[in-house]
Amino acid sequence: MVELTKGRAATSKATDDLEHRYRALLERSDPTTEAWLSEQLSHVRTLADDLPDDPRQLPDWAAAHAQRVASEHAAYLEQRRQGAPRRYFQNRAQALWFLQQVAPTKAVDGAWLHGTLWHWRDPRFHGLIRTFLEELGDGDLRRNHVLIYQRLLSRLGCLQSAPLAAERYLQGTLQLALGQHCERFLPEVIGYNLGYEQPPLHLLITTHELAELGIDALYFQLHVTIDNAASGHARRALECFTELGQDQGPAFYERVRHGYRLNDLGIDTPSLIASFDLQAELLGALERKRIYGQCMHSDRCRLQGRTINQWLAEPGAMPGFLDALQAQGWIKRDSDPRQSRFWALIDGPVAAMFGVFDAYEKQLWHDWIAGTWQGAAMRRVPPGQWEQALQLEEEAPGEAQAADMAVLIEAMAGNRHSTPQGLRATRAFIQATGLMSGGPN
Ligand SMILES: [Fe+2]
Ligand SMILES: [Fe+2]
Repeated sequence: MVELTKGRAATSKATDDLEHRYRALLERSDPTTEAWLSEQLSHVRTLADDLPDDPRQLPDWAAAHAQRVASEHAAYLEQRRQGAPRRYFQNRAQALWFLQQVAPTKAVDGAWLHGTLWHWRDPRFHGLIRTFLEELGDGDLRRNHVLIYQRLLSRLGCLQSAPLAAERYLQGTLQLALGQHCERFLPEVIGYNLGYEQPPLHLLITTHELAELGIDALYFQLHVTIDNAASGHARRALECFTELGQDQGPAFYERVRHGYRLNDLGIDTPSLIASFDLQAELLGALERKRIYGQCMHSDRCRLQGRTINQWLAEPGAMPGFLDALQAQGWIKRDSDPRQSRFWALIDGPVAAMFGVFDAYEKQLWHDWIAGTWQGAAMRRVPPGQWEQALQLEEEAPGEAQAADMAVLIEAMAGNRHSTPQGLRATRAFIQATGLMSGGPN
């Protein structure tokens, strides 16, 4: 398992390879992936899991899981009613940071099930295929999960994300790898799906707190409902195991458990959120921007005897720069940012530095300045005009051609299903197989 590296991408070869592998798998299958996936599975062989030893107890296990999540959620809501602060997100910057950290996983939502499409003639696979098609929104761009997440990031001005630690690509890479090697790893795919589709407590809390921060939580809300344990993806995951694996004997179930455990590789969501460091993020953003700004300022702009260009020319000078801004009275922390002269330079259409910082970077500045100021967390920094909602073109309605199934299935791989061509292929696949929502007809 790869160690978490905060902030910038890790430099070791093993972790660099992870982002590279992820990007390669988005494009095409890769001959080394099967061995890589086997290696990941060997890591989890010795880990514990909470699945019952007897697979016939899986329905009880799923019911108990849903019950536990429901009561912990009720306790959370009660705490909040009694005035407890948000559990996850101290401010909007932290929420925007989190949404970017998990973007590589969200960009391939459902990918672990891609290989099940090849079994469209076998009714035992129809549950898994339906789940996959629902992740793809049945080829409707309004309902395609990858596109819903992309539109969310776009609206928030978070599409151009900062470099992510290599580990952020681990779950996405696992999902793409499972999707491409369904034949060899079917029990593991079933197990992974069983784990991924059980709605966790953190999903409920995240949904609640994002909405509270004025962030459209449709993507998260959608998963609370669509993955539900009574009739949604969680229930279907269980049925698929029963259909495909229940009678396959202990060796098969052991492999299902290994696939289930792959969900635990990498950092868990609450720990990821808690690892957010506002000042480190702001400094990281400034350090990246420094290079572009060092010759852009007039030499009349001075701070503590140095020109701004001199400040920006020096690697690692940004902590001192922040201190100097405060010492010279440009920034007054722990109060409304609108009282800081520096904020007036970067915020608003007539600000001298309009457009220099994107919406996420401005939110970092805002929340760092606001600090302990009451009401800081709720205030939203409006995105710039160029970050307004993505214009999505509805493609011309495509006729389902006499379907070349292999071509259609290939077009639904990776995140390609979210392109106009992929959406068309998804609709044509549904037409050709009769696997409409509501079941085969
Ligand atoms: Fe999804
Ligand atoms: Fe799902």
